[in-house]
Amino acid sequence: MEGTLHRFGPEIWLADGPVVAVAGFRYPTRMAVMRLRDGTLFLWSPIALSDALHGAITALGEVRHLIAPNGLHDRFLGEWQGAFPHAALHAPPCLAARHPDLRFARDLADGPGFAWDGEVDQIAIPGNRITTELAFFHQASRTLLFTDLIQHFPRGWFAGWRAIVARLDGMTAPEPRVPRKFRYAFSDRPAARAAMRRVLDWPAEKLVIAHGPPAEQDARAVVARAFRWLGV
Ligand SMILES: [Fe+2]
Repeated sequence: MEGTLHRFGPEIWLADGPVVAVAGFRYPTRMAVMRLRDGTLFLWSPIALSDALHGAITALGEVRHLIAPNGLHDRFLGEWQGAFPHAALHAPPCLAARHPDLRFARDLADGPGFAWDGEVDQIAIPGNRITTELAFFHQASRTLLFTDLIQHFPRGWFAGWRAIVARLDGMTAPEPRVPRKFRYAFSDRPAARAAMRRVLDWPAEKLVIAHGPPAEQDARAVVARAFRWLGV
């Protein structure tokens, strides 16, 4: 149900948010909440903040880290920073320039060196002209998280000409895919390939994506198939 948290694994919860429109394309939204060993919370890709979600999250612990995992998921950061002014907001460097209204902590980059070292790992997937996305791995639940680089909309989600565009783009393929617009935007494939090989070294079992259903198992195989075109 929209705005409610459900447990996805040890110390990780997911919440589905309202559908947002990007260029007329309707995107379902999803965030993840991870609780670190010190009891603080790491919020990945925050969705629209509702009273119900605020209550459910504060019941789990103190919100300490707000994470924008790429340059595209920035729509709701302001309301979260307003509600949790003491949380550190981390994002790729491009977002700081676009949001002078927000206060950013250290830019997201490959670890180590972050407060969540040893519990959540991240790897930047470089060389893409649309955005640099960071893949995350939550160790306690063995969950791999991708934001926009892997998408999996149900058939029939889009209507009219957008359904055709979405199908051609790979957004509504039978399996999770890297949409073609992102594939073609990789200008430095060797750099992306090297990063993805490191991602596939994580002992991931579950997969969370922002736009599509999560997978409870075989995360590495699913991701490897989605990136086969890159030669990983
Ligand atoms: Fe997205």
